[in-house]
Amino acid sequence: MGSVGQIQVVLIGAPGSGKGTQALRLVKDLGYKHVSTGDLLRLEVSKGSTLGKKVKSVLDSGDLVSDELVLDLLKANCDFGSAKFIFDGYPRNLKQAQAFDKEVINGRKFSVLYFKINENELVERLTSRRTCSNCKRIYNLKSLPPKKAGICDDCNTATLEQRSDDKEDVVKNRVNVYLSTVKPVLDFYKEKKVLKEIDASLEIDQIYKEVLKILELK
Ligand code: AP5
Repeated sequence: MGSVGQIQVVLIGAPGSGKGTQALRLVKDLGYKHVSTGDLLRLEVSKGSTLGKKVKSVLDSGDLVSDELVLDLLKANCDFGSAKFIFDGYPRNLKQAQAFDKEVINGRKFSVLYFKINENELVERLTSRRTCSNCKRIYNLKSLPPKKAGICDDCNTATLEQRSDDKEDVVKNRVNVYLSTVKPVLDFYKEKKVLKEIDASLEIDQIYKEVLKILELK
């Protein structure tokens, strides 16, 4: 792995474009640390913390949680040291991109991968997604089912769950929210010349090869 492999990676893409799926492979194969703001928020909800109680209804509606709150949560979970991070689900609007640049990236080298996909594919992908609540592995009942129904292949427990925001009407709102906020973020990174595009409609293995190539990890 060359020195470029040490840069931080930001994943941008619509709900269901496959950010989490690719992030988990980079974590497993290359030791990246995965910071997903969605996972951090869901963790707070499952703990029943004050923050979790505050954000639950926002998550269930598919709207965005406040910029300040998400930035605080991100910073609390991102102690750089020598770690290389994958940021998944942040930033999501221009204000977050600007704050992220100043308060988190702070001059470090980074690359932004934009998972481009036609929105029509997303509802089917997300309504059939299941996630292992124990080890976080991501499945799809149609395209990537577990070997035994309801049981995680990796940790062998019956913990496959559907996310509460993966219902069709909520998915549609999440996609609309994404479409109404993403363009200024893409323009911001184009201007910085760090934006790299991935065809997220390809097969998972093909996308992974592309990710490694683009990041110059293989
Ligand atoms: P978050 O958890 O970030 O969700 P998201 O961005 O909507 O993205 P997803 O996790 O749904 O999709 P993904 O791209 O990771 O797809 P996956 O790999 O799982 O956010 C949830 C909520 O938290 C937000 O709505 C908001 O309320 C809040 N939030 C989070 N961050 C925030 C922020 N910064 N600011 C404010 N609020 C914030 O794949 C999906 C399915 O497709 C799986 O079943 C998978 O198996 C399948 N699949 C993956 N790749 C492929 C492929 N290539 N071909 C076929 N199927 C595939």
